[in-house]
Amino acid sequence: MSTRSVALANQKGGVGKTTTSVNLAACLAEKGFPTLLVDFDPQGNATSALGQQRLPGGSVYNVLLGHAALADTIRPSGFPNLDLVPSEVDLAVAEVDVARTENYLQRFRAALMPLINSNRYAFILVDCPPSLGILTMNALAAVQRVIVPIQCEFFALEGLTVITRVIRQIRDCGANPELELAGILMTMYDGRTNLAQQVADEVRRHFPQQVFETVIPRTVRLAEAPSHGKPIIAYESHSAGATAYRLLTEELLQRLGVGTRSESPHPAPATTGAV
Ligand SMILES: Nc1ncnc2c1ncn2[C@@H]1O[C@H](COP(=O)(O)OP(=O)(O)O)[C@@H](O)[C@H]1O
Ligand SMILES: [Mg+2]
Repeated sequence: MSTRSVALANQKGGVGKTTTSVNLAACLAEKGFPTLLVDFDPQGNATSALGQQRLPGGSVYNVLLGHAALADTIRPSGFPNLDLVPSEVDLAVAEVDVARTENYLQRFRAALMPLINSNRYAFILVDCPPSLGILTMNALAAVQRVIVPIQCEFFALEGLTVITRVIRQIRDCGANPELELAGILMTMYDGRTNLAQQVADEVRRHFPQQVFETVIPRTVRLAEAPSHGKPIIAYESHSAGATAYRLLTEELLQRLGVGTRSESPHPAPATTGAV
């Protein structure tokens, strides 16, 4: 099977990007897929959610500047089949430093290609920071698919319109012609509130094909797990959150055609179509 690369992106903070990156990566690893999680956020929440430290010189920062190979920044996460490229504080200035380099939107793409071609991993997930700055643009210019997590709140639809337009622009301007939306994921869903239900209905009406059937419930366990440095499947393997992320993993594999078309030398076309 060839390597699939997926970014978790939404310009809004607090929508579940990191929680989904960490738990999706852990579930893919649990299924036996060699998986790499790249922490693209200077805040390093994905790094600490796996119980790892942010290390100076150990992130994609030097990679984006061309001073290191991506492969040299990879570390074991402590969980089987799951590796990590950690974050570091300096990533915050990467926006400025990378902007001064040539082809500044394609830096990560250039760094990722050798790793994809080596087929070392079945999946490479990228946890993006909460902005549409140079780091997120580099991630979107490099990966094959994007998952957009959203919280079911009042402005969710407006935010979705922005990110889906950016995805279309990055594809159509030639920066990354194969970029597709893998799906929109509703997170922190509390079915007891009318607002969450209304927003979920409205989002499904606007993006009927793109929204994942799986919805991630709001649970205390999912919020607690990072402080123990563990993905939910290691913290509370039989919790509602663990079940939801395992279901999401199955749904993503199905959408990517993994399992049914695993012999295909190229990623199967998105079942979701254009955004
Ligand atoms: N399904 C959930 N249930 C409860 N808390 C959650 C859930 N998903 C995320 N959280 C919590 O909400 C906060 C924001 O989530 P996070 O994944 O860090 O968002 P982002 O990466 O988009 O900023 C974190 O404190 C996280 O632990
Ligand atoms: Mg985050």
